[in-house]
Amino acid sequence: MTEVLTLKNVTKSFRQKTAVNNISFSISKGEVVAILGPNGAGKTTTISMILGLLRPTEGEVKLFNRQPQEKQVREKIGTMLQEVSVMPGLKVREILELIRSYYPHPLPVKDLVNLTGLTEEDLKTRAEKLSGGQKRRLSFALALAGNPELIIFDEPTVGMDITSRKRFWQTVRTFAAQGKTIIFSTHYLQEADDAADRILLFKDGAIAADGAPAQIKARIAKPSVSFTAAPDISLEPLYHHSEIDDIYRKNNRVYVQSSNTDRVLELLFQEKLGARDIQIERGKLEEAFEELTSTTKEAI
Ligand SMILES: Nc1ncnc2c1ncn2[C@@H]1O[C@H](COP(=O)(O)OP(=O)(O)O)[C@@H](O)[C@H]1O
Ligand SMILES: [Mg+2]
Repeated sequence: MTEVLTLKNVTKSFRQKTAVNNISFSISKGEVVAILGPNGAGKTTTISMILGLLRPTEGEVKLFNRQPQEKQVREKIGTMLQEVSVMPGLKVREILELIRSYYPHPLPVKDLVNLTGLTEEDLKTRAEKLSGGQKRRLSFALALAGNPELIIFDEPTVGMDITSRKRFWQTVRTFAAQGKTIIFSTHYLQEADDAADRILLFKDGAIAADGAPAQIKARIAKPSVSFTAAPDISLEPLYHHSEIDDIYRKNNRVYVQSSNTDRVLELLFQEKLGARDIQIERGKLEEAFEELTSTTKEAI
């Protein structure tokens, strides 16, 4: 596996706010990865650090084993950011030609038009006259102009109509099929599930889960038994039971995930963990995700 991107213990703090808190992950060539999380989870901050637009307060970001700002890196990546800004005064074709000229192996304008849904008419239009949708398509075309190996999109489909969305994901699939690496952020579970083969679930500036969509869905939707226990109690005995899928602590409670919650209850008593205030939580995917996303709190 060839690593395209590595983050090691990356933290970003803005004065009193820690937007990203000690995250580490690697992405290999050809992966399509969704950074999924609610507003404020740290998605844009993370993407900005990956792109070298923000410097981490601590930790290290490596792209193609180099610093994000290096020229050899910039030539290999294409990006579409949340805020679309276009160059006024120039026609769409001129902007495309200008950006293409920065890259050693740019895609032909004709391909960019076909891939993004821009029209011949759009090419003749001055950037400042473009509608929101046209601007978005131009920005998509600019992301692809250099025929990048790694494409990074920050909430790409926000504000797109259904037709544009379809075309967008179709193009992403085309690029993925060519072995390109794609990273996109979204706050829609459905979108991450449909488009990505791996989800990094962000919450409060940290990675709450990392895995295939099916794993993530199972993790957030699986029933669990939760309880409070003395902090010094060892949960070790529970780890030896194969019926248990996961054990974690959240908000001073212990959660034991298993599809067989009756068995978990038996084990709690059998292992004499002193569990109190026991609750059984039935996981429903959308609800679980909503709950997860709505409990995002402002760090102090
Ligand atoms: N320049 C900044 N100064 C202060 N706080 C910021 C700045 N940028 C982002 N934040 C805060 O960091 C947190 C994460 O923001 P962001 O990365 O934009 O989240 P997301 O893209 O997931 O919605 C938010 O609480 C946001 O208010
Ligand atoms: Mg954002």
